[in-house]
Amino acid sequence: MYEFDKEAYRKRTAWFTEARFGFYIHWGIYAIPGRQNSEWIRSIEQIPAEVYEPFAKEFTAEHYDPKKWARMAKDAGMKYAVMITKHHDGFCLFDSKLTEFKAPAYCGRDLIREFVDAFRAEGLRVGLYYSIIDWHHPDFMHKADIYHPDRSRPDVTDEGRDFNRYLAYMHGQVRELMTNYGKIDVLWLDYSYPNPAGTDMIGETWEATKLVRMVRELQPEIMIDNRLECGGHGFGSLMTAHPNEFSGDFVSPEQIVPPNGLFNELGERVVWESGVTINNNWGYCQLDKNFKPADMVIKKLVECVSKGGNLLLNFGPDRRGDIPEECEQILAEVGRWMRRNGESIHGCGCAELEKPEYGRITRNGNKLYYHVMESQITYVYLPGVSRSQIKKIRLLRDGTELKIVEDWITTNYPELVFVSLGASPVLPDPIDTVIEVELLEA
Ligand code: GLC
Repeated sequence: MYEFDKEAYRKRTAWFTEARFGFYIHWGIYAIPGRQNSEWIRSIEQIPAEVYEPFAKEFTAEHYDPKKWARMAKDAGMKYAVMITKHHDGFCLFDSKLTEFKAPAYCGRDLIREFVDAFRAEGLRVGLYYSIIDWHHPDFMHKADIYHPDRSRPDVTDEGRDFNRYLAYMHGQVRELMTNYGKIDVLWLDYSYPNPAGTDMIGETWEATKLVRMVRELQPEIMIDNRLECGGHGFGSLMTAHPNEFSGDFVSPEQIVPPNGLFNELGERVVWESGVTINNNWGYCQLDKNFKPADMVIKKLVECVSKGGNLLLNFGPDRRGDIPEECEQILAEVGRWMRRNGESIHGCGCAELEKPEYGRITRNGNKLYYHVMESQITYVYLPGVSRSQIKKIRLLRDGTELKIVEDWITTNYPELVFVSLGASPVLPDPIDTVIEVELLEA
């Protein structure tokens, strides 16, 4: 009987909960249709393989420069990256021996090898996303699947399709990814779903226990997402007192920061990572210019950390391998803030203190980080601490000392702690000015 080992789990997840900020890349031949929901376009528009798959010939990747991406991610304060190795359309970006529907057969490069080499060289951890769904493989159900692009074609049947053969292929590709690319830090399997047209595509339908055992044997320290049990909907058994063997290691909310963080049924915080797109698409979408500005990215990152989670921020490059220029500027700006304030993110988590009206608090051991996102009249109030607990207070961006203010303005609040950020009504960092409070004891 499988018993969830809490201690091993805590060790395995430690780096991840310190890293807090990751780079996510959705890249594939769907960049060529490049419309809204491009990586799903084959399913949404029910495009036949004969029409969709030739896009592979235009997937040239000639501007692909993962070293540049790695530097961008690192400068933005990201500590890990996750790249699509195969999405639901079945096109592989890695050199799989099990298919010819892969980038190396078209652009002549193993895009995943270059990714892992480049990101590791910059000191980032590397993760691989692999779709357990596959609309290219002949043995994946076509009619008996609610999402298959051929689901409503009268000329298509499921006769002769052998799902076990597909499973052998899928497990075989995961084995390749876990064997051929050195140490992999995250495996992002995507995803499980109820399937009114046939068997539910959840858990053991994927031979989940066997798959996870293989992965953990090949990569003992790896972090796995929770999507052998669920998709963006649902949380899986990590939320229970007895997670399954294939529960994975983190919950993966999507396009949302969970309002109160996430807790299991014992009331303990669970490890989670919010996947969020920089605009409103995972894959490249030419018309989508709804990029989230840098200040929003910073504030959402702070929000994730203050609720005990990670932010995995996604970018969709075009077929040549260019990330939209707007994204480079946003990341550079995030990086400027992170360079001065990264200590309030990395290694930090929920402070378990009352949230101040002007912002949020993050915490790393005996250090509290007050994120001031709104100018205050004269002084900034620091809730949750008393004078006797405080060792010192610093402005994080430059390390200058901040003294507790006691004057006629604060006399009516003798128990409360206030500091001054100076006479200007504009904050030293208008996006988020961080005050570091070191406590005598954690
Ligand atoms: C959602 C999308 C999928 C994307 C994933 C990223 O499940 O449908 O296309 O790859 O989120 O986490």
